[in-house]
Amino acid sequence: MREYKIYGGVPLEGRVQIGGAKNGALPLLFAALLAEGESVFYNMPDIGDVRLAGELLCRMGARVVWRDPHTVSVCRADFSPDSPDARLTGKIRASSYLLGLSLGGWGRASAPATGGCNFGNRPLNCHYDLFHALGATGDAALSAPRGLHGGTYTFPFVSVGATVNALLVAARLEETVELFGCATEPHVVDLERYLLLLGVRIEGVGTPHLTLRGSKHLVGHAYGVAPDDIEAGTYLLAACATRGRVELVSVTPRVLAPLLAVLEEGGCRVTCGRDSVLADAGGWVGGTVTETAPFPGFPTDLQPPLVAALCFGTRAATVRECVWANRFRYTAALEKMGARMDICGDTLTVFPTEMHPASMEATDLRGGAAMVIAALAARGRSTLEGVELIERGYENLPRKLRGLGAEIL
Ligand code: EPU
Repeated sequence: MREYKIYGGVPLEGRVQIGGAKNGALPLLFAALLAEGESVFYNMPDIGDVRLAGELLCRMGARVVWRDPHTVSVCRADFSPDSPDARLTGKIRASSYLLGLSLGGWGRASAPATGGCNFGNRPLNCHYDLFHALGATGDAALSAPRGLHGGTYTFPFVSVGATVNALLVAARLEETVELFGCATEPHVVDLERYLLLLGVRIEGVGTPHLTLRGSKHLVGHAYGVAPDDIEAGTYLLAACATRGRVELVSVTPRVLAPLLAVLEEGGCRVTCGRDSVLADAGGWVGGTVTETAPFPGFPTDLQPPLVAALCFGTRAATVRECVWANRFRYTAALEKMGARMDICGDTLTVFPTEMHPASMEATDLRGGAAMVIAALAARGRSTLEGVELIERGYENLPRKLRGLGAEIL
């Protein structure tokens, strides 16, 4: 297990470049295999989960080549959907996209073991309901003996993964698929835009109601991955915790609006440019009341970093986690640093108090990011083990933080 040593108490100051979105990059890699020819992706984040997804697809016969650290070319080559390597699929949640890809492209799919962060139960029931609604049969092994057909499906709740799988399975289907209740997260919209370029007809791009008509003759295309709103938010919240002044470059301020509203409510001054955001957090008091929700709500993936920043405010704050049933495991580490919080069901109340450094171990990707933020703000030396979990989703985190004046090794 690798670790970070963090000497906290230094306000973060400076500019930081935000990379491509992890959760946008992953569906694109899978979707590229639906097309003939090559797709080239720019602004790919060079992070653990993306490298792993690339390796998984290569083992299955695809060609995934990193031309430079942020440019990847992907080609179906000899891809076969059978026997995905369980050792690899079990490490990332995105391996569930093999279902939509394999069923949509090859008419059959075997259920991969999936991994990713542990928030308790992470079922795929509504992915399967959707596949069945389009003519697939089976469970562990899906097939479509009479072929897939068009249809209408209403998601019972918003699911990013199920919406991605719906787009993948419908992309080559030459019948109409109408979907209600789709996720509208920026990275889902990114996939919709890419599929349009491949030749899929989609009405309602960016809305919960999509009407798709696919084509068997999709052709690969170049595409630039959109900026990572969660990486961006993590740096903004680190600025708040340390009462610093940080400018993000290469971001989409409109997409960050749900977070920026919370920052302003907590006393941070925010100035947006065309593709930049400046956060002046000298007056950070916290004290916010926030609920996580699908886009355009406050993103669940920023809930742990927000809680870390609220520990360093001056007012009591509440955060309600409405997306995942069990996403507070990381709080034990913050309590080790002195945090006072009370968890009642899905609602966490933070009572700011003096925080001190500690030795911690990352519980998951964003929980680990929350621990980094707390360690940056608490005066003294903290150590954080298990940082591989964090590096699944953050590129060059220590280097970027050092660029903002942090002492992190
Ligand atoms: N759900 C079901 N049944 C389903 C699908 C989802 O009950 O068939 C429930 C989940 O248990 C959860 C909620 O619906 O309570 C939302 O789950 P969703 O399907 O939207 O999540 P996901 O696709 O598995 C992606 C991100 C997560 C992010 C969520 C929500 C990827 C690879 N993962 O997961 O990102 O938290 O959407 O926005 O895109 C992270 O990056 O740290 C991360 C965990």
